[in-house]
Amino acid sequence: MRILSGIKPTGIPHLGNYFGVIKPAVELQEKGDAYYFIADYHSMTSLFDPKQRRDYTLGVALDWLACGLDPQRAVFFVQSAVPEVTELAWIIGTMAPMGLLERAHAFKDALAKGRAPTYGLFAYPVLMAADILLYDSNVVPVGSDQKQHVEITRDLAVKFNQTYGETFIIPEPDIRGDSAAIPGLDGQKMSKSYGNTIEIFGDEAVLRKKIMAIKMDSRAPAEPKPDADKNLAIQLLKIIDASVGKEYEAKLRAGGLGYGDLKKKLFEVYWEYFAAARLKRAQLAANLDFVNSVLADGAARARVKAREVLKRARKASGLE
Ligand code: ADP
Ligand code: TRP
Repeated sequence: MRILSGIKPTGIPHLGNYFGVIKPAVELQEKGDAYYFIADYHSMTSLFDPKQRRDYTLGVALDWLACGLDPQRAVFFVQSAVPEVTELAWIIGTMAPMGLLERAHAFKDALAKGRAPTYGLFAYPVLMAADILLYDSNVVPVGSDQKQHVEITRDLAVKFNQTYGETFIIPEPDIRGDSAAIPGLDGQKMSKSYGNTIEIFGDEAVLRKKIMAIKMDSRAPAEPKPDADKNLAIQLLKIIDASVGKEYEAKLRAGGLGYGDLKKKLFEVYWEYFAAARLKRAQLAANLDFVNSVLADGAARARVKAREVLKRARKASGLE
């Protein structure tokens, strides 16, 4: 079974990315043949600073490796290191109905936010379909926001197969429930675009300050809090460490636990949770040759598969 997923290098990975994607992906690499890549071509639809793209690409690579992506088990690479994907995007794009792409939520949302429509934004799902089909992927673990893109991929694969004969494997999305939506510092879904993130890695003083600044209500510490489960610090604590989370939820409910102490505990548990990964990240950051060799090796392995599938599509469609 081939598992494939992409991560856009458009910012610094946060707890939402970690618990929503990185942790499940690291667990999945034990269950099959995993391909994980950094979607730098996709980042070009929303990020226009070359230095930032380079920095975020390296940062995402370090974060994933530090969090347990095992390059022996998974093929880990940068999307644009396998440029065959752009040829496949053209080939399947010739069959993509305008209406299907116009109905894509991500495209509509971008327009609704006032973004000027570009060809890149419009063609985003076609490139994503090429990513998935190029590696004969069976399963695509993604957040619910990407479900429609996987459905578009399936539609394009079926259409190609009907027109040119059996060529592509039809992939299945593996959607994590909405319960996997990790709340951010303001209680909304944690997201780079809301500026409410807790990064996985970063400066201790800055991160402590962010957590200690979480807004609470003005009830006195002694007061029992029957709505303790709605408290943001409790929710985050439960995600990071279920047993400590439950213990503190009970304390808060009973009364006697101050919000300052609760947030202090949250910071400690969070900081401790990533202690080993933080050490590993520092080692990786001091050995970028190793990181680059992992990515180069991943690209070489991915490219073998990519060339095989691209050739199949070229032959089926009469380009060869
Ligand atoms: P952001 O919203 O910060 O821009 P991305 O769109 O880059 O995050 O998301 C990358 C991946 O992380 C997606 O698969 C998405 O579903 C997942 N993800 C992002 N934020 C969260 C969150 N708060 N909870 C769970 N998963 C998340
Ligand atoms: N569009 C995905 C996101 O925003 C990233 C992505 C690009 C991807 N290509 C992919 C995910 C292929 C899964 C499979 O999160």
